[in-house]
Amino acid sequence: MREWQGRTAVITGGGRGFGKAFGAALALRGAHVVLVDIDGAQAEAAAQDIRVQGGSALGIGGDVTNEVRMAEVMAQAAQANGGIDLLVNNAGLHSNEYGQPILKLGLAKVRRLFEVNVIGVVCCTLAAHPHMRGRAGASVINIASSAAHLGGSAYGDSKLAVAGLTITFARELGPDGIRVNAISPGLILTETIRNELPEVTKQRVQAMQMISGDGLEDDIVEALLYLASGKARFVTGETLRVTGGMAAGV
Ligand SMILES: NC(=O)c1ccc[n+]([C@@H]2O[C@H](COP(=O)([O-])OP(=O)(O)OC[C@H]3O[C@@H](n4cnc5c(N)ncnc54)[C@H](O)[C@@H]3O)[C@@H](O)[C@H]2O)c1
Repeated sequence: MREWQGRTAVITGGGRGFGKAFGAALALRGAHVVLVDIDGAQAEAAAQDIRVQGGSALGIGGDVTNEVRMAEVMAQAAQANGGIDLLVNNAGLHSNEYGQPILKLGLAKVRRLFEVNVIGVVCCTLAAHPHMRGRAGASVINIASSAAHLGGSAYGDSKLAVAGLTITFARELGPDGIRVNAISPGLILTETIRNELPEVTKQRVQAMQMISGDGLEDDIVEALLYLASGKARFVTGETLRVTGGMAAGV
């Protein structure tokens, strides 16, 4: 269980939901975990939860679109173990609020959606890259979405760009020994989804699954642990769909 000992993982949007669950799972396996969130108090509370369990964690406030701040955050994260071994680009504006038609969202919201979901990935990857170069087994994992593969929403289009960037960065960072992959979660009952998604929407989405039942945070955590591990050493540029078959496609 200590295979992450001596290694550092930076997780954006680490204050709650997937990000918090990724942090807890990696810390349990020995990683030093750095949780970055626009809500700094939430990031610090999540880090404190990990420390109470005996793990090593730091919570830092910062907006993933802020180039200067992300450079500071990555430099700070790299101090504990002399670099960064895993970057999880998880922070994102959610489909709940941003899944509406573009005609309703308006330009300002669409601009912010792409700024956070797409430029945020570029910003954090560029900031982390100097600290990841040459680290054995280093990788980046981007969190896309089933919405990317289904089409028909600005939110999905922002996540489609994330899947595209996964291939582009895999090509560009491959020579430095860094693998880059993505996960496209389907409907997963994180706290935000449990609290905010109307029951009728949940039923409509789940009716599209090939297997019934709720998608859980653990399903995404297991996918992340695989992609970040040596078991996936020959896997790069891929987007793994974990959707109960909801967004299957070739
Ligand atoms: N839950 C699902 O069913 C689902 C499905 C597909 C994809 N996703 C994606 O997974 C990721 C996490 O989802 P979640 O359900 O845990 O969401 P969440 O809303 O619970 O958590 C997202 C976190 O990101 C932080 N954040 C938002 N904007 C930020 C910014 N500019 N800079 C730094 N931090 C910022 C928020 O404060 C929050 O803590 C998102 O990218 C989301 O689009 C979720």
